[in-house]
Amino acid sequence: MKNLFILGNWKSNKTTAEAVLWQQSFVKNVPPILDNVTIILCPAYHHVSLFAHKSNTYATGVQNISPFDMGAYTGEVAASMVKDDVTHAMIGHSERRKHFGETDEIVAEKVKRVIEVGIKPVVCVSNTEQIKQLNMLAPEFAKSGLLLYEPLFAIGSGTSDSPENANAAAMEIQQIFPTVPILYGGSVTHENVKGFTDQPYLSGVGVGGASLDPDKFVSLIRAVLS
Ligand code: PGA
Repeated sequence: MKNLFILGNWKSNKTTAEAVLWQQSFVKNVPPILDNVTIILCPAYHHVSLFAHKSNTYATGVQNISPFDMGAYTGEVAASMVKDDVTHAMIGHSERRKHFGETDEIVAEKVKRVIEVGIKPVVCVSNTEQIKQLNMLAPEFAKSGLLLYEPLFAIGSGTSDSPENANAAAMEIQQIFPTVPILYGGSVTHENVKGFTDQPYLSGVGVGGASLDPDKFVSLIRAVLS
């Protein structure tokens, strides 16, 4: 059985009270997770401590990381600051590239910072151009990293890419990084998730909107396990 990853990305959402309720509901309802499946929860930074090391059921990640180490960089969170709290860090999400000017060079810097402290990078790409730039990443990326392919039209639109197209993109990525697990993201729900996880080149999914409601996220996990 191949390894599968289900990454929940809360983006810029939830008060602390809402995050606590989500965590309680999720822990109560999530089914036993098979050994080949890894759930990665990526809340906002200030909610990470709600999740970090609380369970064998899920891993915890951040949605972004500073390209610098600790120091005089107001507002940034360095990889070395969260290395004891999280196992994964999302890097280069299209919303960061669009709204915060994140370039391929910055993405490559961030990847280096997290690898240095033993956090696994989850690098996001949304098109063929970015896929070509992936070879800028540190050679160590291939050892611990994950890739999340998310075409722009599918993010938050309610219209996912087809599993076949996503599989074709994953095939292209795999030519650059033969051993790196490739996930698809963009309007994944409990109804369509199995179509993606069944594809031969896909090793899981990134889930935004459908991870915000704990019941929907649990249904999605159940669908993958079914
Ligand atoms: P979505 O977001 O599931 O809401 O489309 C996916 C993502 O941006 O990671």
